[in-house]
Amino acid sequence: MSNSYDVVVIGAGPAGYIAAIRAAQHGMKVACIDEWKNKDGKNAFGGTCLNAGCIPSKALLESSELFHRAGHEFKKHGIKTSGVELDLAAMQKRRASIVRQLTNGIAGLLKANKVDGLVGHGKLLAGRKVEFSPVDGKPEIIDATNVILASGSTPIELPFAAFDGDNIVDSWAALEFDEVPKRLGVIGAGVIGLELGSVWARLGSEVTIIEAMHDFLFMADRDIAAAAGKEFKAQGLDIKLGAKLTGASVGKNGVKVDYEDAGVPNSFDVDKLVVAVGRRPYTEDLCADDSGIHVDDRGFIEVDDECRTRVKGVFAIGDCVRGPMLAHKGSEEGVMAADLIAGEMSEVNYGVIPSVIYTAPEIAWVGLTEQEIKESGREYKTGSFPFAASGRAKAMEQTSGLVKVIAAADDDEVLGVHIVGPMAGELIGEAVLAMEFSASTEDIQRTIHAHPSLAEAIHEAALAVDKRALNFPNK
Ligand code: FAD
Ligand code: NAI
Repeated sequence: MSNSYDVVVIGAGPAGYIAAIRAAQHGMKVACIDEWKNKDGKNAFGGTCLNAGCIPSKALLESSELFHRAGHEFKKHGIKTSGVELDLAAMQKRRASIVRQLTNGIAGLLKANKVDGLVGHGKLLAGRKVEFSPVDGKPEIIDATNVILASGSTPIELPFAAFDGDNIVDSWAALEFDEVPKRLGVIGAGVIGLELGSVWARLGSEVTIIEAMHDFLFMADRDIAAAAGKEFKAQGLDIKLGAKLTGASVGKNGVKVDYEDAGVPNSFDVDKLVVAVGRRPYTEDLCADDSGIHVDDRGFIEVDDECRTRVKGVFAIGDCVRGPMLAHKGSEEGVMAADLIAGEMSEVNYGVIPSVIYTAPEIAWVGLTEQEIKESGREYKTGSFPFAASGRAKAMEQTSGLVKVIAAADDDEVLGVHIVGPMAGELIGEAVLAMEFSASTEDIQRTIHAHPSLAEAIHEAALAVDKRALNFPNK
C-alpha cells in the first residue's frame, strides 16, 4: 500500500468494490478497505451480498427448489424417481464453494484493475484522511483526495428476541444451518422471510411466519401480492398477518414465540427462530466525530441525489444511504460516484430500480404500483396476462402467476410492470430497459418476442393494456 491515493473506498461490498474498479478504470490510484470476516475466521471481499446475502441465498434457493421438484414435479414430466434424499452437508458445501469462488474473484478483479485491496478497518478522519487499521498490524494514516463510504448494513435486532447465534438467529446464521429445523419460525414476511422460509420449507421444515402488517407484501402491487400469497399458502407456508411479536424465549421445547393477533395474545413453539424485520445502516466507528459527516435519525449517512456528503470529496453509497437496500442500487451508485470524481456526468435513475423476490414463483417489479398511481391522481390503464395461457410456461410446468403492465392514459408511457411467475427476475430486465428508454406500451406491443418464450407474457400484457391481447380473452 501507499500512503496517498486519489480515491479510498471503505467497504468492498457490491457498492464499494464496483466504485473502486470504476475509479481505477478512470486511471485513478485507488485503495479499497474491507474488514469482513467469515465464520471460518477468514477475511473476504464482497460484503453482505457475496458472503451472507444475495449469493448464498440464491444458491440454497436453487438447490432446495430442485430437491422439491424432484420429489413433487418430476412425476408429471414422466420421470420416475425413487429414494430422492437430501444431503444437506453437500448442499451447504456447494453454497460455501460458490461464495468462496466469487469472493476470491473480487480479490482477483481488484488486483487486475490495480486497486490496492486492504484488509482491515477504515475510518474517515477530518481533512479527508483515512485511518487504516490492518488485521495484523499498526494503524496507518492515508491521505485521500476523495473518499467513498460504502459500509453497508446489518440486521435489525429486536430487544425482546435478541440473537443468540443458535436458537434465535439472523439471516446469515439461517443460511448456514447444518440441520433442517423441524419447526422454523420467522419474524417478518418481507424479502428475507419469504426467501429463507421457502428454502427451509422445501427442505422439510414446518414454517410459520409472523408479519406485523395486515397487507401481505405491502410494498408490492396488490394484484401481484394477492396471487403470490395464494401460492405460498398452497405451498404450506403459514403466514400470520397483522401478528406482532411480543417476545421470544428459549426453553426445553425450543423457542417459545409470543405474539399478538388483533390484540389477542398467542404463542407457538419452534426449534429455530429467524428474525428478519429489516436491516439498518452500519456505520460503527466509520467516521471520526470531527469528520463533518452527518447521519439522519435512522442512522443513514446524509447524501444528495449524487451521493455527495456535506464534506467536499466524500461520497457515500449503497445500503448505508437512503433508498432501497439492494446490491444493484449500490453498484450503480458506486459507478456514479466514481464517474463524478473523474469529472464526468453521471446519475442514477432511482425511479427505475428493479425489485426481485426469488421465491417460486418469483416476484419482480419496476416502477409504480397501481395503488401508488391511483394515489397520485394520474389517469392510467392496465393490462395483464396469466402464465396459464403461455405455451412456454405450460411446457415448463410453471403456469402460476401473471404479468401486469400499467401505463399512463394520456401518453401511453409505461409507469410500472409487475410480475409473479417463472423467471420473473430475468423477465423484469425487459421492462427495466423499456422504462429506462421511457417506452410506451405501443413500443412493447410492436417489439417482436420469440415464440415460445416467457417474455411473450410481457408482450401480451402490453397488448392487453389496449384490449388487444391475442392469446387471452380481453376484459
Ligand atoms: P455490504 O454488502 O454490506 O458491504 C459493506 C462492506 O463494508 C462489508 O464487507 C463490511 O465488512 C465493510 N465495512 C463496513 N464498515 C467498514 C469499515 N469501517 N472498515 C472496513 N470495512 C468496513 N440484494 C439484492 O439486490 N438481491 C438479492 O438477491 C439480495 N439478497 C439478499 C439476501 C440476504 C439474506 C441479505 C441479508 C441481503 C440481500 N440483499 C440482496 C441485499 C444486499 O446484500 C445489500 O443490498 C448489499 O450487499 C449492499 O451492498 P453494500 O456494498 O452497500 O454493503
Ligand atoms: P423487509 O423490510 O423486506 O421485511 C421486514 C418485514 O418484517 C416487514 O414486512 C415488516 O412489516 C416486518 N416486521 C417488522 N417488525 C416486525 C415485528 N416486530 N413483528 C412482525 N413483523 C415485523 O426486511 P428483510 O426481509 O429483513 O430484508 C432486509 C433487506 O435486505 C431488504 O431491504 C431487502 O431489500 C434486502 N434483501 C433483498 C433481497 C432481494 O433483493 N431478493 C433478498 C433479501 C434481502
